[in-house]
Amino acid sequence: MHEGNQTSISEFLLLGLSSQPGQQELLFALFLAMYLVTVVGNALIVLAIGLDSYLHTPMYLFLANLSLADISSISTSVPKMLMNIQTKSPSISYESCITQMYFSIVFVVIDNFLLGVMAFDRFVAICHPLNYTTVMGPRLCLWLTATPWALSNTVTLTHPSAPPIGLLLSCSDTTVHELVLFVMGSSVITLPFAFILVSYACIITAVMRLSCPEGRWKAFSTCGSHLTVVFLFYGTIVGVYFFPSSPDPDNRDKVGALLFTVVTPMMSPFIYSLRSTDVKGAPRRPLLGERALPVMP
Ligand SMILES: *[C@@H]1O[C@H](CO)[C@@H](O)[C@H](O)[C@H]1NC(C)=O
Repeated sequence: MHEGNQTSISEFLLLGLSSQPGQQELLFALFLAMYLVTVVGNALIVLAIGLDSYLHTPMYLFLANLSLADISSISTSVPKMLMNIQTKSPSISYESCITQMYFSIVFVVIDNFLLGVMAFDRFVAICHPLNYTTVMGPRLCLWLTATPWALSNTVTLTHPSAPPIGLLLSCSDTTVHELVLFVMGSSVITLPFAFILVSYACIITAVMRLSCPEGRWKAFSTCGSHLTVVFLFYGTIVGVYFFPSSPDPDNRDKVGALLFTVVTPMMSPFIYSLRSTDVKGAPRRPLLGERALPVMP
């Protein structure tokens, strides 16, 4: 580290998506709406699942956990962004910036691991249906949901400069840090994804072995919502980082971060509740005394 090359920084200026005054109001309204839709949609899912004992199956408990992670994830960045637009002050303190980075990374990692856990659930349900209730007991479910929360915190904490901003500020040689970060970052994303691919390879093989087409479709349709969210989640990553449409890399990062923090959490409650008659039926069930079909995995 060279002497005289050290400056202490206490605030950052955030580069907004747009600096034109008319667009600021539009952005504010747009993000406020998206934020409310996401929080309300996901909160309804958590409530519907929590209040309905028919939905206390591993698949729905994992979904409630995913919704909770989505609410937390969007709440790390959007309220601060709305406040900045409203007060027209683009600054953020160093501490808030690191904290925001930390939690954004933690919740993306949790989402990622939960999608892996949900793939495992579908794998057991379709490939080992007879052992489903024994394998997916309450203890394993608790363990499977607690691990992503613990693991993502550990992964993000073990490397002190995990938030990339720390790298930019550090005056020391960052090559090693960057390498560690790259390996860590890519394994945190690719390992669950590889796990999901392997689970679905087994699921497809098992489904193909079923003799009647109706049974095949029925088994596979229980994976529909999960598959859609998986496509949305990893599709955003692949789309943004591998097929950039904007030649300006700064803008590409901004749009990518935005899709990731706002659009994916906003869409998942709709994908799940539109596809799942169980969740859709939940609010009516206690009122009408309608006996729901047991939720077959
Ligand atoms: C998350 O999953 C665990 C274990 O499956 C469950 O006990 C808990 O209620 C779930 N969380 C929510 C918010 O539903």
